[in-house]
Amino acid sequence: MEINYQETSKDLLTRIDIHEKYGSANIDVWTNELLQPKAGMQILDVGCGAGKLSFLFDDYTNRQASITGGDFSDELLDKARTKNKERGSNIDFQFLDFNKPFNFADDTFDLCTSAFAIYYAADLKFTFGEAHRVLKPGGRLFVSGPLPENKQMFYDIIKEATNATIPPMPGSSRFKGDIFNTIDSIFAKTELHKFENHLTFPEVAPFIEYVRASLSEDRKLWTSMFNGKDEYEALIGKIQAVAQKWFDRDGKLVMTKVVGGILATK
Ligand SMILES: C[S@@+](CC[C@H](N)C(=O)[O-])C[C@H]1O[C@@H](n2cnc3c(N)ncnc32)[C@H](O)[C@@H]1O
Repeated sequence: MEINYQETSKDLLTRIDIHEKYGSANIDVWTNELLQPKAGMQILDVGCGAGKLSFLFDDYTNRQASITGGDFSDELLDKARTKNKERGSNIDFQFLDFNKPFNFADDTFDLCTSAFAIYYAADLKFTFGEAHRVLKPGGRLFVSGPLPENKQMFYDIIKEATNATIPPMPGSSRFKGDIFNTIDSIFAKTELHKFENHLTFPEVAPFIEYVRASLSEDRKLWTSMFNGKDEYEALIGKIQAVAQKWFDRDGKLVMTKVVGGILATK
């Protein structure tokens, strides 16, 4: 099944910014503590986007790991390469479509990661099979993504504002099920870890900024809820009114991100 979910890199970076600004916990710290990447490791980051995880591992290993970041968005790869240059890092950012065979030999990597990306894969068995193939024996796969209880308050506010059915999210709706089970069927050992981040918004505006960066006007995933610019703005207006009501009642808006991390060993 092809899932049309594409969004702009600006929206992604806006959300990352908001997580960092209003969050109670740092997903980078959690990721590093869980994975502890080491100097000398060969690391592949699939769906690397603008390079967030690749740079994280580069810093954590004092630039002593050999890191490859792969993505199919030229726009995001450009961003990653620019930052790579600015930092003087040596990460190899290259085109990779995770729905196609990976362009690497068998048994190449010690660690293969994918943050909020690989669960969009059209054929999970194929894509995780590729991840397994390019990992060395004993190598680890790490896949993070939203759990079903993720951002409950965000969906509750939208439901109250619109009475509409929320489109099924490609990540959270299959993370614990299909995705975990597929990985578990291919890898020798599979564990599920959990990360919680409470985002406390001290006013309504940054929450609405988050809403806009999640259901952009042009993001196909959400367009069942509106038709064109005017309906989009009307929808945002309704969401804003409900958010304001909740804020006046509670004095703040708290949205909890609940992220799962599947860690598997070949
Ligand atoms: C939500 S972003 C996450 C980016 C990055 N891992 C991070 O944590 O910031 C999802 C990423 O998956 C990439 N992506 C989606 N489909 C892809 C595919 N078929 N092959 C490679 N990358 C893909 C997108 O271009 C985007 O960079």
